[in-house]
Amino acid sequence: MSGPGRPLRVAVVGSGPAGFYAAGALLAGEEPRVEVDLIERLPTPWGLVRLGVAPDHPKIKAVSRAFERIAAQPGFRFLGNVEVGRDLTHDELTRLYDAVVYAFGAQTDRRLGIPGEDLAGSWAATELVAWYNGHPDFQELTFDLSGERAIVVGNGNVALDVARMLALTSEELDPTDTTDEAIAAIVGSGLREIVILGRRGPVQASFTTPELQEMGELAGADVVVDPAELELDPASEAELEAGSAIGRRNLEVLRRFAEREPEGKPKRVVLRFRVSPVAILGEGRVEAVEIVRNELVADEQGRVRPVPTDEREVVPCGVVFRSVGYRGVGIPGLPFDEDGGVLPNRGGRAVDAQGELLGGVYCAGWIKRGPTGVIGTNKKDATETIELLLEDARAGQLSRADAATADAVLELLVSRGVEPVLYPGWEAIDAIELSRGAEYDRARIKLCSWEELLAAARGE
Ligand SMILES: Cc1cc2nc3c(=O)[nH]c(=O)nc-3n(C[C@H](O)[C@H](O)[C@H](O)COP(=O)(O)OP(=O)(O)OC[C@H]3O[C@@H](n4cnc5c(N)ncnc54)[C@H](O)[C@@H]3O)c2cc1C
Ligand SMILES: NC(=O)c1ccc[n+]([C@@H]2O[C@H](COP(=O)([O-])OP(=O)(O)OC[C@H]3O[C@@H](n4cnc5c(N)ncnc54)[C@H](OP(=O)(O)O)[C@@H]3O)[C@@H](O)[C@H]2O)c1
Repeated sequence: MSGPGRPLRVAVVGSGPAGFYAAGALLAGEEPRVEVDLIERLPTPWGLVRLGVAPDHPKIKAVSRAFERIAAQPGFRFLGNVEVGRDLTHDELTRLYDAVVYAFGAQTDRRLGIPGEDLAGSWAATELVAWYNGHPDFQELTFDLSGERAIVVGNGNVALDVARMLALTSEELDPTDTTDEAIAAIVGSGLREIVILGRRGPVQASFTTPELQEMGELAGADVVVDPAELELDPASEAELEAGSAIGRRNLEVLRRFAEREPEGKPKRVVLRFRVSPVAILGEGRVEAVEIVRNELVADEQGRVRPVPTDEREVVPCGVVFRSVGYRGVGIPGLPFDEDGGVLPNRGGRAVDAQGELLGGVYCAGWIKRGPTGVIGTNKKDATETIELLLEDARAGQLSRADAATADAVLELLVSRGVEPVLYPGWEAIDAIELSRGAEYDRARIKLCSWEELLAAARGE
């Protein structure tokens, strides 16, 4: 069946916040009527809300309630355990749907590009985060946390998450949905100090104030800041004068931290500024990080940049977490902007390398704008994309192919031996995790292997 009588069929690829908000915006309107297949490579939905957001922040994870309401709407279908690029190609999606919205996030990490980055014990924060959150692709990793000092490179909220998670006590971790292996490793670790390195100053840090504040409220760790590292250089003074509200608030919190006397808690979290790692050192595994002190200089656009001085220092440590940003990865057959790690687009309409519209192909979330922004940022972003999609649909610019039926995609998947996890399959996983958690007064106890997840989805 084709033509205006049947609903518009849209594939949304990726079930993180951007995918769910896109689905919600598609299903919210009356005209055109829309059916959404939310295609997800994992058997579980919610993207980084399940597998990125720190487990000790359950209130933030509770945004999933809003996603559940979207999933309950008529016209919504979840196709988990289906990876685009492996189980379905981009070309097939364009034949099987009237429009495709890509919202597959940023699947890897940005590199530092320094010697020693690949030594054993030098990890991307993405790996630790996925591991402690129970991502089924990361459960085989073993983090050696026996050393006394960990170094976290980067000054974003992920760096704070990683440092805080490593500093939590058993009492703080036990009620969360952190995996048992991660709780045991963190609680049983030899860590006494976690050092966070910012290459620029306190005014330029990209973490947000409530998250910074939280670092001063940990049961088992003192927060330590050297007042000398908070002294402002002219470039930072100018940035504050120009009205950096977050910079000012962060600085106030950091100054309060710097005035504190450590209480002698078992661990310390040390925030350092204006230092960059230049090499990760060690014989076969991480033993230290060589850092250089930076000066801050404003460039012609007014952006404050770190410029290395001659002052260097070697900081011994047992493990390094590089938290300098996530990075998008392309899907075969789709254009990809290697520099930005995004799907090239104009406001959410995908374009090719020459800037020509692909037609019927859209994007939202981190793969559209790059790996920054909180969960809510993706709502506005996805809504803007869907407004364009609906505008194109109303203008008759989306093809309405006969092949685009709800059954056609399932038949193709089954013919390939792919076993999609539909929403009831996810609900079965969810119910098991919640009831396992309830037994121990925990938020949930996650199923963390592909085998367990798929068996639960099948009702086995
Ligand atoms: C460690 C961490 C902690 C965070 N904590 C917070 C927080 O506390 N509060 C806050 O507001 N924001 C937080 N954020 C930011 C927030 O998580 C992001 O803004 C948001 O998740 C981005 O949404 P997205 O849908 O673009 O990507 P994602 O959430 O990454 O979703 C992408 C989805 O696409 C799927 N996918 C990937 N490739 C394919 C494929 N080929 N086929 C099918 N599916 C695919 C993935 O499995 C994933 O489910 C955090 C981010 C990180 C990294
Ligand atoms: N609780 C929350 O709300 C929460 C939690 C986690 C994540 N998030 C959000 O998720 C997004 C991603 O977070 P993120 O922390 O990955 O990214 P981010 O905010 O972009 O931070 C990346 C950090 O890495 C630094 N960096 C980049 N390259 C570097 C290099 N070569 N050497 C040293 N430092 C380098 C950056 O410094 P420069 O500024 O100098 O480039 C910046 O401090 C953010 O928008 C964040 O707010 C939110």
